[in-house]
Amino acid sequence: LRLAVLVSGSGTNLQALLDAPAAPFEVVVVGADREDTGGVERARARGIPTFVCRVADHPDRAGWDAALARSLATHDVDLVVSAGFMKVLGPQVLAAHRVVNTHPALLPSFPGAHGVRDALAHGVRVTGCTCHWVDAGVDTGPVIDQRAVRVEDGDTVETLHERIKVQERAMLVEVLTRLASDRSWR
Ligand code: GRF
Repeated sequence: LRLAVLVSGSGTNLQALLDAPAAPFEVVVVGADREDTGGVERARARGIPTFVCRVADHPDRAGWDAALARSLATHDVDLVVSAGFMKVLGPQVLAAHRVVNTHPALLPSFPGAHGVRDALAHGVRVTGCTCHWVDAGVDTGPVIDQRAVRVEDGDTVETLHERIKVQERAMLVEVLTRLASDRSWR
């Protein structure tokens, strides 16, 4: 299964895909919405093609959407994985690709860019992470899988997010392994 992975941050989810032993998927390109992300560095370290597609480099979101779709189109990708990508994908990308996103909360609770902070602030005792199909909304597509993570006393956003990411990385590898063998989603 040929994957494009979109990142905005440190890229530890991407790293989990790169390190997955005997995985039935292959990361063929990594895209970012900003320069100098950990994710792009991790791809370059493995000789994997990368591209950076910044919203600021385009007159509007439609121009950015078109450029992102063009970048993806040059790599013959089966599935796009958004792993910590902090932009809402546009209709041109979504028309051309199935996209899986991973979110560090139990959707539909705590969608958006601050899911860990919001769950902690709400005082939940259990949160977690969600893998879902991306639709036109923000963190709103059909759920594929979820994992629960307990909130510990004294947790900060950082300590909780790190604990969630341990589960998130394992969940992502498991989901992509399943999608590689059962391609009825195509
Ligand atoms: C992940 O928890 C992802 O769900 C969230 O941001 C984090 C990205 O982490 N949107 P990384 O860049 O994969 O380390």
